[in-house]
Amino acid sequence: MSNDTSETRPANQGKASLEKAAMQDEQVQDIHAQLMREKEEPSEAFTPIPIFLVFVIMVLGFWAGIYLVLYSGEFRSDVFDPKFRAGSGEVAAAPEITLFDRGARIYRNQCAQCHQADGQGVSGVYPPLVGTEWVTGHPEVVARVLINGLSGPIEVKGNTYNGNMPAFGPNGLNLRPNELAGVITYIRQEWGNSASEMTVDMIEEYLDLYSARTTPWQADELREDLGPIPGEGSEPAEEAEDESADEGETDETEAEMA
Ligand code: HEC
Repeated sequence: MSNDTSETRPANQGKASLEKAAMQDEQVQDIHAQLMREKEEPSEAFTPIPIFLVFVIMVLGFWAGIYLVLYSGEFRSDVFDPKFRAGSGEVAAAPEITLFDRGARIYRNQCAQCHQADGQGVSGVYPPLVGTEWVTGHPEVVARVLINGLSGPIEVKGNTYNGNMPAFGPNGLNLRPNELAGVITYIRQEWGNSASEMTVDMIEEYLDLYSARTTPWQADELREDLGPIPGEGSEPAEEAEDESADEGETDETEAEMA
């Protein structure tokens, strides 16, 4: 019996320890399960941005682009003047652009495509402006051409042209009086031309006379009924002399042409 017991005891003992071990396993599992529950869920490494945020960023980028285009001042360094004070004298003292300089700009934009930057025109199509008495003669002639345009045959420096010169007066491309005065002054004085300037007052007088006219001039009409040169009487003697010198030139060239 004792044998039995001695036999069974270890067996019992073994069973107990097995059960105990099993219990421990369960506990361990429980604990693990608990740990697993309490730990954060494993997740993907990259969380996508919320889609609305993507939209917000795109809209902001778009707005920033438009803002830059509108308000960058062409990224020029002189656009923003931190010392600017409205109404202060500095602004009034801004450099005044001369008739000639304004005319040079108008010429580049409005005339150079036909008469070319060097004023030589295009052979057979656009007449030259250099050294032609249409340009450097009586200022009323060139004022007429500019205000109303010109069409039909015209002889310039020995060549005959027959095209259409657009009008730049109020019935045409409508340049402002100071722009017309500028561009006429420019072509009368650039490239070695040396005729008198066309002042704004002068061109305004011619605009009064010719704004109503809607047809372009013909070359042979251009020299008819020319009035006195405006403002000549009131000008200082020096300038009057200049004008008469110009007239002399004109007569010479006319004589040459005839
Ligand atoms: C579309 C082309 C064109 C443009 C732009 C143009 N012209 Fe002309 N211009 C002509 C043509 C063509 C003639 C000759 C017209 C004719 O055959 O009757 C002419 C003739 C002239 C004449 C008289 C002839 C001469 O050569 O002296 C003057 C002055 C003149 N243009 C000045 C100007 C000025 C200044 C501008 C700019 C404000 C200008 N033109 C813009 C085509 C043009």
